[in-house]
Amino acid sequence: EPQRLQDRFGRVMTDLRVSITDRCNYRCVYCRTGTDGAAFAELGIEAYAAMIRLLVGLGIEKVRLTGGEPLLRRGLLDLVREVRSMPLAFPGDRDNGVEIALTTNGHLLAGMARDLKEAGLDRITVSMDAVTPDAFERITRIPNSLGRVLDGIHAAQDAGLGSIKVNCVLMRGWNDDQIEAFGDFARREQVILRFIEFMPLDEERIWAADTVVREAEIVERLSRVSPVRLLPPNHPSETARRYQFLDGSAELGIIAPVSRPFCGHCSRLRLTSDGKLRTCLFSQTDHDLHGRMLRGASTSEMREYVRSVVLGKEERHHIGEAGFLKPSRSMVHIGG
Ligand code: GTP
Ligand code: 5AD
Ligand code: SF4
Repeated sequence: EPQRLQDRFGRVMTDLRVSITDRCNYRCVYCRTGTDGAAFAELGIEAYAAMIRLLVGLGIEKVRLTGGEPLLRRGLLDLVREVRSMPLAFPGDRDNGVEIALTTNGHLLAGMARDLKEAGLDRITVSMDAVTPDAFERITRIPNSLGRVLDGIHAAQDAGLGSIKVNCVLMRGWNDDQIEAFGDFARREQVILRFIEFMPLDEERIWAADTVVREAEIVERLSRVSPVRLLPPNHPSETARRYQFLDGSAELGIIAPVSRPFCGHCSRLRLTSDGKLRTCLFSQTDHDLHGRMLRGASTSEMREYVRSVVLGKEERHHIGEAGFLKPSRSMVHIGG
């Protein structure tokens, strides 16, 4: 009888997020420094495929490809096709295989949406942190970027990639004046908009407790556009609390890791672009999965290794508490 991948708190790991490059064509202030350090670390596409296969073999059901910017990665479509073909370790009643999602900044999406859909991608999330070009360029530090992202969102909708999610990391002084405009945007564009509380994962260390725009304030400001109500969760380990305008015109999510941590139901593992397994966004250590594979460990040794790593998964993060340690790696390596 095969066993689920479980930690010592009884949480079962079903979601994997894989950073397939730490290169990015944007320089978002909440993530990277303004200049590019030349060094980057990425593996061959086959190496990610092998690690994903190992983890799917242990019970991962949903794989999210991230970066850096995953659309910069040659071989992405092959990887999507390959993950699509991996059988679930614990096939349920409705076995549609592994669910594959991708998080992108959207800059290159217009030219790739159709190919991604054909390769078997199920869902797409676009990070978009402002609805006006000026604010957008201040955050991404790349000129003429907003129009391309909007084209990308439309192309993904046309390609049949379902309801597109749009993620917006709110930062006081940068985009907190856009909440109401985002509400209108969600209605107009028929996207699922999710506001995310800013976490201390940025390379430039602009995070401070007072830069976080908290869930309560977001709800209050959205309610000025139109009244909202809370929707029931789709899934217990869902990160977002779902809201809806009372007239049904748009679904809005709020991801509040700072004011309402969701670690108790965490089902996520992460793979960094250089092949390290991380059990938490805020882990102080990572585990060299790729290195072990290269040194020729057998599948059963690799499985035992992953199980032991998962047993060490952190109970929760400590953002805002005395002694909080910012992880040594920022979001470009970890992949959100
Ligand atoms: P789905 O909700 O499955 O569609 O995936 P998604 O990537 O669109 O959203 P998800 O909820 O997985 O993540 C969105 C954002 O939530 C991430 O970019 C992070 O900012 C935050 N987040 C996701 N997972 C975690 C986590 O394990 N811990 C913390 N603290 N934040 C997380
Ligand atoms: N705090 C919260 N979310 C972040 N993301 C990147 N950096 C941060 C941060 N410091 C989110 C982006 C993107 C995903 C990959 O991670 O919005 O959607
Ligand atoms: Fe690039 Fe994403 Fe980081 Fe922005 S958040 S700099 S888009 S990796």
